[in-house]
Amino acid sequence: MAKRIILDTDPGIDDSLAILLALASPEISLEGLSVVHGNSSTEQGTSNALSVLELAKASHIPVYHGCELPLVQPSLLAPETHGDHGIGYAKLPAPLNLPQVQKGSDYLIEKIMSSPGEITLVCIGPLTNLALAIRQEPCIVENVKEVFIMGGAIRHEGNTTPLAEFNTYVDPHAAHIVFHSGMPITLTPLDVTYQCIFLKDDLNRLLKIESPITKFISAATRFYMEFHDEYQKIDGCVINDPLTLALTFMPELCDYQELYVDVDLSGGVSMGNTFADFYKMTKKSANMKVALGVRPRDFMELFLERMEKLAESIA
Ligand code: RIB
Ligand code: CA
Repeated sequence: MAKRIILDTDPGIDDSLAILLALASPEISLEGLSVVHGNSSTEQGTSNALSVLELAKASHIPVYHGCELPLVQPSLLAPETHGDHGIGYAKLPAPLNLPQVQKGSDYLIEKIMSSPGEITLVCIGPLTNLALAIRQEPCIVENVKEVFIMGGAIRHEGNTTPLAEFNTYVDPHAAHIVFHSGMPITLTPLDVTYQCIFLKDDLNRLLKIESPITKFISAATRFYMEFHDEYQKIDGCVINDPLTLALTFMPELCDYQELYVDVDLSGGVSMGNTFADFYKMTKKSANMKVALGVRPRDFMELFLERMEKLAESIA
């Protein structure tokens, strides 16, 4: 039975790859996308989500416009990382479809509460939509099946400040609400995603297939690779969000520890930093499962195989 998934996302180059991976994976029934501010504005991200779904002939999947700003922090977008339109050098036609009228956080509540214990939530952007939904309807905590979150840096350096990862830095207050909600969380931090580098050789393998899908992946990731080279001297690009999505149906790609994890709200240099209580000093029980080991090339092989199949199906 396919896993019923809602993707809360800020598309975004690696978000777009995660959407494609979800569509290419028979283990998943992608039921809807809620869009959040982050890599680009919610407006732009909503348009990108609609366009990527149409590119992959999946325009039947509904898209919901979510929060446009963090709960407390000022807005922080990432044009230097994902381009002015959020998908690098890729150019997609303006979407034919419109987003749903319902707001993203209301959609999360309605979907989870109407199918208790059945919905898997995959959050690959700042956690503003989910935090709002928890505050509006706390019962979603015990009615969601499970939550997979891309975010945080536990023993790994930050990618937005020296200590903080983008999703938890952009909205640390939302992350705090979600981390302490009691939801069954699996966290995919930079500790594992930074080992999952999409290389030029990987892209060249996909480009053997003539398809709008491979053209899109090439134009989007070329921008992303230039960013990673210029800012972090990485040869290739880190595809954080597809790894997070893959763990919903292939958890064995990673090794996990049950840990108490918190996020720094002190407002200083470590704002948005996420840290784990490895030695149980706080006496607080674990609030999530954290992926700390990964088999990067097993994941990349899965990703490439699925992208090849998707590309072959869409001429
Ligand atoms: O820090 C990486 C995360 O922030 C990814 O989800 C990326 O898409 C951005 O949202
Ligand atoms: Ca993202």
